[in-house]
Amino acid sequence: MIMMMTAILFLLLMLLGVALYLAHKVRRVHLMMYDLGNNIVQENAGLYRQIEALRGLELELDLKKSLPALRGWAASPDFLLEIVRHALDEKPRTVVECSSGTSTLVLARCMQLNGGGKVYSLEHDPAYARQTRENLVRMGLSDYAEVLDAPLRPLELDGARWSWYQHGVLPAGLPIDLLVIDGPPMNTGSLARYPAGPALFGQLSASGAVFLDDAARAEETAILARWKLEFPQLEQGSRYCEKGCAVLRVPRQGGSVHGGSV
Ligand SMILES: C[S@@+](CC[C@H](N)C(=O)[O-])C[C@H]1O[C@@H](n2cnc3c(N)ncnc32)[C@H](O)[C@@H]1O
Repeated sequence: MIMMMTAILFLLLMLLGVALYLAHKVRRVHLMMYDLGNNIVQENAGLYRQIEALRGLELELDLKKSLPALRGWAASPDFLLEIVRHALDEKPRTVVECSSGTSTLVLARCMQLNGGGKVYSLEHDPAYARQTRENLVRMGLSDYAEVLDAPLRPLELDGARWSWYQHGVLPAGLPIDLLVIDGPPMNTGSLARYPAGPALFGQLSASGAVFLDDAARAEETAILARWKLEFPQLEQGSRYCEKGCAVLRVPRQGGSVHGGSV
């Protein structure tokens, strides 16, 4: 009798254990489904935002030819729309870009719509430089942008060694109204875009503005913090973009930014 009771108790405990285990698993699956649902909603919202931004680009730029693939390695539509709106509103005469691609095409189209202005695009990779030049020709925009072959070279700043676009590629003494920083790629070195500050901020014109892509990444956050310390004259702000977008401005009341040039 006692043996039977023990066996039943053991069985009941086993069943309870299995039930608790199953309840735990069901709860985990439920939570995972909830997270998945949330992720899908967020992803769809992000995707829709990019479609809206792409449509915005097509409308604002009145494009007759399609743009090359966006997102991934290229800038995302939301970032491109920010720089396009800035370029159409403020009509910069001289635009300098760190890294060429679709950004070069949309900025060149802004110059064309503005009736003048020029984009100088620094590109370290000859194959991508060639590709961007071909796209400029395809879109009839070659008069408004020049892709400059600028291999990455060692650059010494305050005793530290960096890698930056070759010195002397940009026309000397160029005042920069708009600087768009989307390169070099982060796999070329730690804080790869930091040298843009010491190398180019000194050339910003009185109405100069800087747009930094990928500003949500940890590396770019660290770069922005360094620039804040080293260039306190520049006002830092941000725009909401999927990969982050930081905007640095020369204050309207004037002032100069200390730094060198490429
Ligand atoms: C972040 S991408 C710059 C893209 C450019 N500003 C644009 O909006 O298209 C930085 C660099 O990556 C390189 N690159 C461009 N497209 C690439 C691709 N599909 N795969 C690998 N590297 C690429 C180019 O050398 C470019 O200078």
